[in-house]
Amino acid sequence: MSLVCLADFRAHAQELLCKSTWDFIDGGADDSVTRDENIAAFKRIRLRPRFLRDVSEVDTRTTIQGQEISAPICIAPTGFHCLTWPDGEMSTARAAQTADICYVTSTYASCTLEDIVSAAPRGLRWFQLYAQPDRLLNKQLIQRAESLGYKALVITVDVPVPGNRRRDVRNNLDLKANLLLKDLRSPKERYSTPHLQMTPIDPSMCWNDLSWFQSITQLPIILKGILTKEDAELAVRHNVQGIIVSNHGGRQLDGVAASIDALTEVVSAVAGKVEVYLDGGIRTGNDVLKALALGAKCVFVGRPILWGLAYKGEHGVQKVLNILKKEFHTSMSLTGCRSVAEINRNLVQFPRL
Ligand code: FNR
Ligand code: LAC
Repeated sequence: MSLVCLADFRAHAQELLCKSTWDFIDGGADDSVTRDENIAAFKRIRLRPRFLRDVSEVDTRTTIQGQEISAPICIAPTGFHCLTWPDGEMSTARAAQTADICYVTSTYASCTLEDIVSAAPRGLRWFQLYAQPDRLLNKQLIQRAESLGYKALVITVDVPVPGNRRRDVRNNLDLKANLLLKDLRSPKERYSTPHLQMTPIDPSMCWNDLSWFQSITQLPIILKGILTKEDAELAVRHNVQGIIVSNHGGRQLDGVAASIDALTEVVSAVAGKVEVYLDGGIRTGNDVLKALALGAKCVFVGRPILWGLAYKGEHGVQKVLNILKKEFHTSMSLTGCRSVAEINRNLVQFPRL
């Protein structure tokens, strides 16, 4: 079977995975309006290419938080990679290292942070935190990630409680029973207890708590899940270093705007003070180009990475990343952009309503 675009990987993964795993990955919250809108909103935006600009050399490289990456296409945090491939996150980390992009490791990784780092010691990685009610556990997790060479702390803000995923409810999905959430175990327990209870996320977290996180780590802090100018302004005022505009792939609050539609208001509110990134619905190189044209410094990809893992582990993820990077290179060439610095707002137009 020849897999030439990310949609092909989706179709293939659906055939390979068991129903409950497929439903967990693919699912959105409630009616999945936002999940579908993430994709539809990209398709509504039209491009305004420029020609005769010598695109014989096109350079897709950029930086995030001062670190160079080969293209503005990185891996969003998703939990439980061992559901889709036996050695899970270790394969993901190897593919990210080969592609020379950033891999954001989830709190709910099914491999330990140590194993992930030793699988791909030269890779650029950020650590995604679901704040735990136990402060000490947060401190241990963050400091462990920092000492292992993770370069930023991504705090996910859009899960004060889990979204209502109907397919998981129907399937009686019980992640607790299936997974080794090794990172949340104390070091003593880590190698002795076979299973860990899935610790809850702290629903009481608020803006004032950010200073505590800032006091225990040197890492830049990036908030994931911001969708409004109001919260973007608060994020800047609380001295975070970055924002990921995201609606969690439509898995949390259903009925919010597509992330590409929320991007513009966040970018204007932030006014260049911190880097703004986007995830949600990125499936083609043109999507990447559109997000950058509207002000994102880089995009993150969620589900397609899991489709790649399901297909062939490390090599499947590599293929997904290569296709997306190649498509983005073509999109740049066809719109007259020789470097990512040349991608700007004039490249896109919205349909008249
Ligand atoms: C996620 N996402 C997520 N986010 C996060 O901060 N921590 C996590 O552990 C997870 N886990 C997770 C599992 C699965 C199966 C999915 C599909 C998503 C959300 C993820 O980081 C990202 O916001 C979306 O996946 C982006 O949308 P696309 O690329 O999947 O459309
Ligand atoms: C999810 C949680 C793990 O989206 O963030 O499934």
